[in-house]
Amino acid sequence: MPALVLLGAQWGDEGKGKATDLLGGSVDYVVRYQGGNNAGHTVVVGDQKYALHLLPSGILSPGCTPVIGNGVVIDPAVLLSELSGLNERGVDTSKLLISGNAHLITPYHRTVDKVSERFLGKRKIGTTGRGIGPTYADKINRVGIRVQDLFDESILRQKVEAALRDKNQILIKLYNRRAIGVDEVVEEYLGYAEKIKDYVADTTLILNKALEEDKVVLLEGGQGTLLDVDHGTYPFVTSSNPTAGGACTGSGIGPTKISRVIGILKAYTTRVGAGPFPTELFDDDGEALRRIGGEYGVTTGRDRRCGWFDAVIARYATRVNGLTDFFLTKLDVLTGWERIPVCVAYEIDGKRVEELPYSQSDFHHAKPIYETLPGWSEDISKAKSFDELPKNAQAYVKALEEMSGAPISAIGVGPGRDETIQINSFL
Ligand code: GDP
Ligand code: IMO
Ligand code: MG
Repeated sequence: MPALVLLGAQWGDEGKGKATDLLGGSVDYVVRYQGGNNAGHTVVVGDQKYALHLLPSGILSPGCTPVIGNGVVIDPAVLLSELSGLNERGVDTSKLLISGNAHLITPYHRTVDKVSERFLGKRKIGTTGRGIGPTYADKINRVGIRVQDLFDESILRQKVEAALRDKNQILIKLYNRRAIGVDEVVEEYLGYAEKIKDYVADTTLILNKALEEDKVVLLEGGQGTLLDVDHGTYPFVTSSNPTAGGACTGSGIGPTKISRVIGILKAYTTRVGAGPFPTELFDDDGEALRRIGGEYGVTTGRDRRCGWFDAVIARYATRVNGLTDFFLTKLDVLTGWERIPVCVAYEIDGKRVEELPYSQSDFHHAKPIYETLPGWSEDISKAKSFDELPKNAQAYVKALEEMSGAPISAIGVGPGRDETIQINSFL
């Protein structure tokens, strides 16, 4: 059985945690392939709610091996506190595997993330302040520190020294901050080495062997398609590739092994942080979506910006990820609206545009062109099959499917594992 990719089709927070957890019971491995603890993935199991940031959502399924792939950036303090938080709640985390090639977030990355945002002023990106961008920058710049460096004190020291030489100049001279000492970083990070060493492995080898043995590997994305550094709304993006290609580079699994690419798609749209968002609402409807949908950031607690469904974005996600399926989430949140607008195209400089414009300036002043669909008022949270949905909810799903370019294979009608209508199997 080949590998599956599950990723966000919009600007993140589509419900990837729930969807991953749902599949977690039927797969052998769940792999995070990019991002870090900028993610906040919520999983609701019975009356228990978990917020996962760095750990793959498969960690809550006892039969499944969770893997942090090489493409992830790891803040070791966050990793350890997330593990102990789960252990305290009775979750066994002993199967976790961590790639020795994953890069480490250090205190200077967090500081640079926060101060550089402050210096951007009005042009700030609204990052999560977790040090994600600066850590990926160092990786690409070939001055990063990797998990495997923790196990060789002299290498670790050399790398920290080299990194801090530049960083301290920047911190002191540019940002007027205090310098960070080599010893304090080395000492702190050597302390983590002992605590995480049993988890560290050649995850690429393990995953490829597992695939050869017909095991099922699920690759869980963080963030979403429009936050991708290549395909998203640059510069208002994260610093990694949440799109499907990132699943290959971030795990070491080749594209020929991937059989399904599932896009998690919210029945409306949300975004956290700055950047263009054509269907954003500033009225009572936006407020109602936020309140009913509980649209507050899992990581930073910020209010999420809310708006109607945008089919142009969904089509774009189908295209750049080669999506085979959608998992439509939070349909229940739309219950009660008499009519529901859906953005089918944009108007840019007086012209109708059907596809996402490649030009950032055009996207910034794209105005949504709406079609309005009839709503429903019946509670749908107990629906177990498509036929049990009210006719107008069925029509809404079908319309979205038609516009988005891939089959909707599952529908979320509530946050719980079982609050899902499965239309086509993912496995
Ligand atoms: P992620 O980052 O993609 O994993 O999504 P988040 O966890 O940040 O945000 C999704 C929120 O929606 C969480 O609070 C989930 O518990 C909740 N959720 C997921 N699917 C559904 C659904 O179908 N209906 C409702 N009402 N809530 C959902
Ligand atoms: P999950 O996995 C929503 C956003 C931030 C900011 C931009 C860059 O829960 O869907 P970063 O800290 O990554 O450099 O911030 O990306 N962002 C997210 N928005 N969901 C997320 O993760 C996000 N992770 C980062 O708000 O706009
Ligand atoms: Mg989230």
